[in-house]
Amino acid sequence: PDITSLFSLGKTIEGREIWTLRVNTTAKGEALSAKPGAFFVGTHHAREHLATEVPLLFAVWLLDNRNIPEIKKYIETLDIYITPILNPDGLEYDIRTGKYQLHRKNTRINADKTVGVDLNRNYDSWWCTAGASSYPGSDTYCGTAPFSEPETQAVKRFVEARKNLKTLMSYHSFSDLILYPWGGKDAPVEDERDRKVFVKMAGEMAAATGYTPQLSSDLYVATGDTADWAYKTGKIFAFTTELEGGTFYPG
Ligand code: ARG
Ligand code: ZN
Repeated sequence: PDITSLFSLGKTIEGREIWTLRVNTTAKGEALSAKPGAFFVGTHHAREHLATEVPLLFAVWLLDNRNIPEIKKYIETLDIYITPILNPDGLEYDIRTGKYQLHRKNTRINADKTVGVDLNRNYDSWWCTAGASSYPGSDTYCGTAPFSEPETQAVKRFVEARKNLKTLMSYHSFSDLILYPWGGKDAPVEDERDRKVFVKMAGEMAAATGYTPQLSSDLYVATGDTADWAYKTGKIFAFTTELEGGTFYPG
């Protein structure tokens, strides 16, 4: 508790809190900090349960190892935020019957009574123009407007209020990939220096994990994702990890 605090990014559509652990040796709760910020967010997609476990275990690892010099340096000089579950409503919906539902989206009841908006198609980056659907029943339904959902609005508010944020990692599963923008168009970012940073960081994270670094749109072009928006809006070096394995439910 000397270096951590807990706060909520906001409420979901069903009123659950979006809990966030902050690791910062000086600032607590929602107080702003001038230290470079790193934001880790898990589980935009309900069925991707590894994307909850990994940010949780990352928090445990960071705190268990707080006295190792290299880790201590990061803890003392950075403003670290870990949100393990952006979509707790969807996650609960996925497990509540005791049998996995393969649910991806949040739990908004759409006009046609289908359930859910794809939160990773709901950000304002070429919104709903490719790799996303305007059909509410679709698993990649983009919603009625950019940031129509309380969960993505919470990320928007949080990021826009914190100009110190430099990096963002959004956890998904599965495929063993480290993805970098652009995802919404078939090209890397235009700025040469930024492009080199993306390639270098993705390469180093891939080397550390054994995953493959890749331009996000080389997986497939999809607009409205978290990383594209975060880079567009705040020049944040934002990545998507597709955690390992070949199933949403590794047991
Ligand atoms: N599999 C994730 C999704 O469908 C990640 C997508 C990464 N972004 C992209 N534009 N390819 O939301
Ligand atoms: Zn996903």
